[in-house]
Amino acid sequence: MKKQLVRHTRDYFQRIYNQVPDAIFLSPGRINIIGEHVDYNDGFVLPAAINKYVCFALRKTNNDTISFHAKDINESYSLSIHDNLAPVETMWVNYLLGVLDELKRRNKKVSGFQMAFSSTVPMGSGLSSSAAVECGLAFALNTLFDLGLSRQEIALIGQQAEHRFAGVKCGIMDQFASVFGKKNKVIKLDCTTLDYSYYDAHLGDYSLLLLDSCVKHTHLTSGYNDRRNEVEVGLKMIQSQFPEVHTFRHCSLEMIENLKTELGDIIYKRCLFVVKEIARVGQAIAALQAKDYPLLGQTMTETHWGLSKEYEVSCPEIDFLVETMVQHEGVLGSRMMGGGFGGCSI
Ligand code: GLA
Repeated sequence: MKKQLVRHTRDYFQRIYNQVPDAIFLSPGRINIIGEHVDYNDGFVLPAAINKYVCFALRKTNNDTISFHAKDINESYSLSIHDNLAPVETMWVNYLLGVLDELKRRNKKVSGFQMAFSSTVPMGSGLSSSAAVECGLAFALNTLFDLGLSRQEIALIGQQAEHRFAGVKCGIMDQFASVFGKKNKVIKLDCTTLDYSYYDAHLGDYSLLLLDSCVKHTHLTSGYNDRRNEVEVGLKMIQSQFPEVHTFRHCSLEMIENLKTELGDIIYKRCLFVVKEIARVGQAIAALQAKDYPLLGQTMTETHWGLSKEYEVSCPEIDFLVETMVQHEGVLGSRMMGGGFGGCSI
């Protein structure tokens, strides 16, 4: 499938531009084992890159024009390297313009180029197709124009592109997983320091299985940004009572219970979820290291009901998938994956 994707993207490039590309790049989507909605709350996450990719074919030109072709939807967009960049109506273009804008902000210069891309990462399914697009372009331009960016900078460029041009105030998990992912490894990422380590993704006799609810979402309108605002307000209220709390990582369940009335029902539930989820990730990592897969599965299911009832980012279709799956013999756990409001269960 990977070879086919590369071949089709290369052929398409040649047909559209009548030229051979200089280089081909593959940028993966991601899954997440546990640690949901805590990347922007100073928690830890446990994602892994997957074997579904956005494939880019690129060629440098001698002029000032940048051309993009999206093979899967047969759409194109072009601009001059001198244009002022601002978000446009078409979302796929914004992911790319956002990256160009971030490069400009960092004083990284590119000349004209031609690009075509195609993807096997399904869109709106919680597998981070947008992060794969952003980071894939940043990685490709970094290589082609020798921009000297580190992998961490590439991930941060992807995240900023998402904030500024797609309007989604995402955390760093998706972009980090796309850039740092390795075959058969999960990444434990400390979202405060961006320190990371790899763990073996082999689960003994067990496998990870994704079920697509086919409920599509976009986090621009899903409620994702609202959740971010709610926990920001919550953290400020906690800090005003407990100045020793710098981030949710320093926050205990007792503190939240103490402030239950002041926080109000909604913000109380959101904060409760975050503190519990940060603790659950620690428990899941210990279970993974001890090869205690039943405990890992149980922790994942607990995360699901937290996401559904406390953080309220699930939907009836995903709740149904989770409820149904956990009744099957041999299924150790199940939960919604990614930002929620649709997408996949794992
Ligand atoms: C989306 C965001 C991530 C993360 C997840 C939820 O995928 O892009 O940064 O917040 O939701 O864990």
